Amino acid sequence: MTSDLRKMRKNWKPFLLKLTPARIALLYASAGCLWIAFSDMALTARVHDVYLITLIAMMKGWLYVAVTAIILYLLIRRGEATLRESEKKFRMLADTAAAAIFIYREATFLSVNATSQKMTGYSQEELLRMNFWDVAHPDHRAMMRQRAAARLRGDDVVSRYEFKIVTKLGEERWVDFTSGIIEFEGRRAVLGTAYDVTERKQLENQLRQSQKIEAVGLLAGGVAHDFNNILTAIIGYGHIIKMKLPEHDPLRSYADQILTSAERAANLTSGLLAFSRKQVIQPHPVNIDEIITRVGRLLTRLIGEDIELSMELGCGETAILADPGQIELVLMNLATNAQDAMPDGGQLTITTGRVELGRDFIDTHGFGVAGSYALITATDTGVGMDQKTQDRIFEPFFTTKEVGKGTGLGLAVVYGIIKQHEGFITVYSEPGKGTTYKIYLPITKATIEQKRTLKTADTWDGSETILVAEDDEAVRHLTVKLLTEAGYRVVEASNGEEAVRKYKEQKDAIQLLLLDVIMPRKNGKEAYDEISGIRPDIKTIFMSGHAGDVFERKHINGKRFNIIMKPVSPLSLLHKVREVLDA
Ligand SMILES: Nc1ncnc2c1ncn2[C@@H]1O[C@H](COP(=O)(O)OP(=O)(O)OP(=O)(O)O)[C@@H](O)[C@H]1O
Ligand SMILES: [Mg+2]
Repeated sequence: MTSDLRKMRKNWKPFLLKLTPARIALLYASAGCLWIAFSDMALTARVHDVYLITLIAMMKGWLYVAVTAIILYLLIRRGEATLRESEKKFRMLADTAAAAIFIYREATFLSVNATSQKMTGYSQEELLRMNFWDVAHPDHRAMMRQRAAARLRGDDVVSRYEFKIVTKLGEERWVDFTSGIIEFEGRRAVLGTAYDVTERKQLENQLRQSQKIEAVGLLAGGVAHDFNNILTAIIGYGHIIKMKLPEHDPLRSYADQILTSAERAANLTSGLLAFSRKQVIQPHPVNIDEIITRVGRLLTRLIGEDIELSMELGCGETAILADPGQIELVLMNLATNAQDAMPDGGQLTITTGRVELGRDFIDTHGFGVAGSYALITATDTGVGMDQKTQDRIFEPFFTTKEVGKGTGLGLAVVYGIIKQHEGFITVYSEPGKGTTYKIYLPITKATIEQKRTLKTADTWDGSETILVAEDDEAVRHLTVKLLTEAGYRVVEASNGEEAVRKYKEQKDAIQLLLLDVIMPRKNGKEAYDEISGIRPDIKTIFMSGHAGDVFERKHINGKRFNIIMKPVSPLSLLHKVREVLDA
């Protein structure tokens, strides 16, 4: 029994606390009925004068009305306060949300939060006078209209998609938009939320671009490498034919044609090798301002009189680890592009300076390592580029120039070189507003070496004995032929093992090793290691159509060893041989 009472009391309290409108009405009616019944009964039992009864009943009624009015007032006030409180909380939530939250009906905004205003740049009043489509990018309006119409028809449409908006200042931003149907002020309306995903979109785009370029680089590098061997043979035999033909033989001009075409092909190949970062670079600490000053002199002549070149150099003594020849090439390519972009003249400004790149730069650009960088900028006042062109400029063979005017390799080479120097390059451009390239190269703590003077031999023949090890038959025969023509005695080997064996057989005669790096059985480096075990001071030249990375993997450092890249012109091979023999 007592437990039942307790249960009832327990149920009673929440009942009172949860005063729903229905409960209030029920309570009001019951209390009213009880009050009227009991008070009237008590009144008629005590008072018998009809006039007095009427008077007291009337006052009793007023008293009831007054009490219930007060209760009603208190209840309404409490309800309003709760409503206001919850509205305030909701506003606060909506306004501090990272997303733009808005309600619209038939594309007209009915309510917008603070983020909507921040995202679009329009004030609340402006937005409430506007139409949903006004904010959307013109390219996306049709798609959005179609979806809205399909939804009105009751079709099943996606409620989440991405589109571009245009802010009050004309800036384009990407948003991730979600919508749902709600009841607003008694009618159906759409509740939309939109997140700004511009940065993510940009990063995705950058990643896609760089993956594409990596893939193209791999392909280009592979093709270029095989091409190199073929070209070595073509150029070499072309030279031999020419050498063998008498001075005035009409066939000599054909040999010349072969050689010029092959040289052009070799230039293309070396561009592709640079792009795919497969060139041997010989980096050492250099002063960036010095390189730019030197190139500047050349550029003034290159870009013509209509273009004014100005330079502001601010790197001072700062050193970067670079191959100066490659950096010069980068600047030449940027300058020729600038020249093409300013057919009626203009201004090209090159600046240098030091920058510290922090995490935020890396986060927004999606690449790099934090640290100190030398920043080179090249700004022109030319025709500029739209986004579509900018997305493709670093691809090899991408050009907007007419056939015969550009190969589309310029920026691909720039890209490859900068990457190989562990730096990065960005481009900012707008049609009609010029272009700015920014190149970041890591600063090194190493000090700048004194200028190295290169000694080149001026003779190219000799009578020494040279061991030539090369697996590619065409290249080997050619090299042997060249060397014998020049008077040398040559010992031939087609792989590393044979090279070691032949060396052992004639070790007293052989004065120079000419070794291909990649060979079957034993590679060039392994053969060298074994031979230098017998004779530590043996003179050696490594030959490769492979890239710098091969040299690195085989631990052949460009500084300690003599490296010659294929395709090598016969004269430079002979010069190199003489130079090393005389050293
Ligand atoms: N400064 C610039 N201003 C305007 N457009 C540029 C600029 N730099 C590059 N471009 C655009 O990028 C494209 C690719 O440039 P890239 O240097 O790779 O090749 P190219 O100049 O066309 O040919 P190549 O350099 O091999 O002679 C150009 O065709 C041009 O449309
Ligand atoms: Mg170019």
